[in-house]
Amino acid sequence: MSEKLNLPIRPRRNRKSPALRGLVRETVLTPADLIYPLFIQEGEIDEPIASMPGCHRWSLEGLVREVGEAYAVGVRAVVFFPAIAESLKTPGAEQCYHPDGLVPRAIRAVKAAFPDIVVITDVALDPYNSDGHDGIVKKDPVTGDLKILNDETVSVLCRQALCHAQAGADIVSPSDMMDGRVGAIRESLDEADYEDVSILSYTAKYASAYYGPFRGALDSAPKAGDKKTYQMDPANWREALREAEQDVAEGADILMVKPAGPYLDIIRAIREEVDLPIAAYQVSGEYLMIKSAAADGWIDEEKVMLESLTGIKRAGADMILTYFAKAAAGVLG
Ligand code: PBG
Repeated sequence: MSEKLNLPIRPRRNRKSPALRGLVRETVLTPADLIYPLFIQEGEIDEPIASMPGCHRWSLEGLVREVGEAYAVGVRAVVFFPAIAESLKTPGAEQCYHPDGLVPRAIRAVKAAFPDIVVITDVALDPYNSDGHDGIVKKDPVTGDLKILNDETVSVLCRQALCHAQAGADIVSPSDMMDGRVGAIRESLDEADYEDVSILSYTAKYASAYYGPFRGALDSAPKAGDKKTYQMDPANWREALREAEQDVAEGADILMVKPAGPYLDIIRAIREEVDLPIAAYQVSGEYLMIKSAAADGWIDEEKVMLESLTGIKRAGADMILTYFAKAAAGVLG
């Protein structure tokens, strides 16, 4: 009954044992690839985040403890996102460059405890801005339309980046999508003798609904309007290449694509055009979808976590920002 096919090429031969699959594996995820985003807040309390199960807004003490746990399993890079008290938010977002603000104190605390960890900071105004936008908002007195002012915002971002550099950040990471901010930040850092501080640019950051749980975590959703006049249209990819070209010309050290999973083609497109390292951000909505489906028992959380991260790396990312960083590093060993 059994019929032998005349098949000289049988791809299954390379899959016949775990050891052989190990030999032919093209993409290997390691803890060294992961960047752990951490939320921080004032005070002594570590508060679980309702919209992001497994994540907390950490006190500075809790932050150092959590970074220590991630460090123990091999994570060597972190990025901070601050929850700022409503009373400190202003239209000019001045708190973002306060030398004793929450972020500079977090940088100093983590650097003191783990001098060899890479500390990355987010540069954007939304946590500090009473309008909840990444830039300075101007309301048109006639139409009432909101305008996000590009050049005025860039000068505030430069002060914010410098403040983070002065506190000891290794990398500043503008996530605001204003035009020209990478070059301007590079110049401000260099002028102040911080030429060794790197810029990880959110090169292709899309106006994505996947950021919802993050905005819940920080209470940072725009008070009015949306972010479509600065973040990219999810329908576009050529535009991502233009952004990449510009960031390269302005001196970015690493380019980022965000979100990651729904934008693998963008990661790949930039990978093919640019030689700089590429980061991808598996954002809060991607994380939450996996957590929720796993909590309902419909998927295996650990397997889907690793598969999603492997897919992002396979697409061309050298490093991945993920809320799974500690958990994934724990599994990867
Ligand atoms: C804001 C910022 C956002 C994220 C990182 N930095 C949200 C936004 O642009 O509205 C989202 C991250 C996530 O969803 O995990 N500068």
